[in-house]
Amino acid sequence: MIIPVNLGKKSYDITLQRGALKRTGEIFDLDRKALIVTDKGVPKEYVREVCKACRDHVTVIIKAGEESKNLENFQKLCEAMLKNNFGRKDCVIAVGGGVVGDLAGFAAACFMRGIDFYNIPTTLLSQVDSSVGGKTAVDFCGIKNIIGAFHQPKAVLIDPDVLDTLDERQFACGAAEAVKMAVTCDEKLFELIETKGVKTNTEAVIEGALKIKAKVVEADETEAGLRRVLNFGHTLGHGIESATGLLHGECVALGMIPMTAPSLRNRLAAVLEAENLPTQCKAPSAKVIEAAMHDKKAQGGAVVTVRVDKAGSYKFVKSTGEELLKDYEEAFL
Ligand code: GLY
Repeated sequence: MIIPVNLGKKSYDITLQRGALKRTGEIFDLDRKALIVTDKGVPKEYVREVCKACRDHVTVIIKAGEESKNLENFQKLCEAMLKNNFGRKDCVIAVGGGVVGDLAGFAAACFMRGIDFYNIPTTLLSQVDSSVGGKTAVDFCGIKNIIGAFHQPKAVLIDPDVLDTLDERQFACGAAEAVKMAVTCDEKLFELIETKGVKTNTEAVIEGALKIKAKVVEADETEAGLRRVLNFGHTLGHGIESATGLLHGECVALGMIPMTAPSLRNRLAAVLEAENLPTQCKAPSAKVIEAAMHDKKAQGGAVVTVRVDKAGSYKFVKSTGEELLKDYEEAFL
């Protein structure tokens, strides 16, 4: 299946198909140099498949984990391209999760003021969300994604078969982002996840999430307004992430709960629990709120939060730190 992302001259296709990894050479234009960026956690056979499709490639393998999304690794990628005489017509390919995609995409956005970028997401989280939409970045001075650029990929290849090797906890993190899309934008998709679960309907869930993502990005590529809906659960989620050792998707799951109306909250929590995600948070509220209010999107002591009163709908509400504290404590303490 092809899901188009219509952005004028920056339009591209997402190929969603079991076994698509073996078709990398058909789907991408690889008659040029390619920098393949991956991490140590990505099974070698996936990377080998991509290497086989390239005419001329250089591979950089980074350490797995958020701490790799830094300027040092960005420099490493740029150095690899310089040393290998990459030019404007060459390309970067990410093979991995969100960290690899964000870092590789940022190097592609900056090298020679922007070269082609292809993304092959290998985690559920990156397949349903981060591989599409052109957000690229590194973390800096302890702040997530603070240095970055919008740089749309040239194409995205999603092979759900690669999820067979993904560990349960990482799978659940992807499910959290899919629930986020469904509960804000698509009641039917929410009901599908609620009644059948993500595991047995992975392709349908990825497809539903990507269709939402494509529509949102087409309407608001650079997050001037509507795209903020994709931050549902992320304001408190980022605060919880700073205050705990939990994974991003787990924190997004927790972050959604206080932002959901009490009438829907138990239903949402049941869906998250069925997806092996946490629904109770004991992180100290002051620490969570302080970190949440340091969010790069906070302005003048307030942050725009996304709230859900009814499945498949959302509203934006400007909230102060005190208001967020009240929401958090009401939901968890
Ligand atoms: N992951 C949120 C966005 O792409 O805007």
